[in-house]
Amino acid sequence: MNKLAAKAASALCTLGLSMALATSVYAAVDRDAIIERIKPHGNICVEGDETCGTGAPAVAASAGAAARSGEEVYNRFCTACHATGLLDSPKFGSGAMSARADEKGLDGLLASSISGINAMPPKGTCNDCSDEELEATIQYMIDND
Ligand code: HEC
Repeated sequence: MNKLAAKAASALCTLGLSMALATSVYAAVDRDAIIERIKPHGNICVEGDETCGTGAPAVAASAGAAARSGEEVYNRFCTACHATGLLDSPKFGSGAMSARADEKGLDGLLASSISGINAMPPKGTCNDCSDEELEATIQYMIDND
């Protein structure tokens, strides 16, 4: 090997080594940066949610937001099942909800809507609905039954 070739080989070696080092340093920095970027910005705990960790401030459901009408909530959340009677839900406009209201009363229907009943998920999937909004929604369903 002549002198020039030896020099070139050693330069290449140094370059390779420093690139390997630099890559691993960057990889570590990237990972931390990513973890920092994707971590939640805070913990919001909705009042009544018992799965929340301790220490997170409780925020009243729908605090600050104007209550939605029964019609709005129905069209956004409940229609998915109740419009067609999916999963044997009381079908909108069929008289089935009124029949249940006669049997259980509005309070009874509200209670089962909040907790969920059989195939119906808690709050009918409107997780940020207040009790008042749910009640207005059930009333809307009864009024249009
Ligand atoms: C994933 C489908 C689904 C969605 C979405 C849904 N429901 Fe239901 N709902 C059901 C089913 C199924 C039943 C019948 C449960 C039973 O009695 O077995 C039911 C029953 C009810 C009842 C009667 C409860 C009782 O005690 O007899 C009310 C009131 C009700 N739903 C209101 C709502 C409201 C209000 C919403 C929207 C905020 C909603 N549901 C969204 C499936 C759904």
